[in-house]
Amino acid sequence: MEAKKTVLISGGAGYIGSHTAVELIGAGYDVVVIDNLSNSEEASVEGVRRITGRDIPFEIVDTCDMAALRSVFAKYDFDTVIHFAAFKAVGESVAEPLKYYANNLVSFMNIVEMMKEFGRPNVLFSSSATVYGDAETLPVTELTPRKPATSPYGNTKQMAEDILRDCCAAYAGLYGIALRYFNPVGAHPSALIGELPRGVPNNLVPFVTQTAAGVRECLSIFGDDYDTPDGTCLRDYIDIVDLACAHVAAVRRMTEGKMEGKFEIFNVGTGHPVSVLELVTTFEKVNGLKLNYRMAPRRAGDVPAVWADTSRANEVLGWKAECSLEDTLRSAWEWEKRVRGL
Ligand code: UFG
Repeated sequence: MEAKKTVLISGGAGYIGSHTAVELIGAGYDVVVIDNLSNSEEASVEGVRRITGRDIPFEIVDTCDMAALRSVFAKYDFDTVIHFAAFKAVGESVAEPLKYYANNLVSFMNIVEMMKEFGRPNVLFSSSATVYGDAETLPVTELTPRKPATSPYGNTKQMAEDILRDCCAAYAGLYGIALRYFNPVGAHPSALIGELPRGVPNNLVPFVTQTAAGVRECLSIFGDDYDTPDGTCLRDYIDIVDLACAHVAAVRRMTEGKMEGKFEIFNVGTGHPVSVLELVTTFEKVNGLKLNYRMAPRRAGDVPAVWADTSRANEVLGWKAECSLEDTLRSAWEWEKRVRGL
């Protein structure tokens, strides 16, 4: 029998990392989770253990700490790393650029350095649709030119993609995939893991669910005068479990030696644009409640519309988003209710 493959997940206690751990285990992989808990809770690792019934190795490690990372590489036998560990607040990155460049880039370069030192082949990097900026053509394909980043956060995603591309070209045993996520939303159907933003949420769906739960008084819809069908921004909201499954498909491609080059990029979205207003009214409808919301001025830095052309992921990875927006918004509300004890 073939030995089980093991995947190291940095940032595995976070929102996307925890859901990906569950799906990898379901697909027959072993996982090792590391996280510095700077924006996550150990409870989510416990949630993954409860969903999967497996005792997952977890270590509190900061990927910026090279010595600590080296011990993890020495201790565990994995051939693939998924690197989620990063700061992700766009506004904060504008106010504190050095914090973002230092954390997001040093941690990633440390990972690649360790891959090289220990001869481990596969790196999967968490990139973002933010690399496309305000794209000239929609939907965006992986070949749509990237626009200059509008925030240090976005710049770290572009730079890390380039670092990975260059390192894969230079180092014989290294292979890389960057997944460009659109807008991840929802929670695991068990409601045992989900998104746990600290403080006031920046993102739409956590703000919606917290408003429904009475934690926030009123949702502001940022801009109703965009050149879109209902005047509010268009995004591509991808269910978190679907997104996690895209990681499994990418890991499989790497571990089975199916990559065509040494570095590949895939969009991970649904391929369908949804407006902010449409998301809000769908949330109200599927959960049978009324949300307190008002129209508000545009938010600086928002692009009017961005959604994915997912043909490449569909055809090459054999992956496609399955979950409906309705089911996703139900899971988001179930999770919020559980967190709030409602
Ligand atoms: N929005 C509101 N009210 C809110 C929060 C958001 O109306 O309280 C709107 C935004 O204006 C935007 C849409 O909801 O039109 C989605 O906003 P999010 O903040 O949830 O997501 P973004 O598309 O702005 O952000 C995502 C990722 C970032 C990434 C960014 C840029 O979360 O990591 O895309 O591509 F950098």
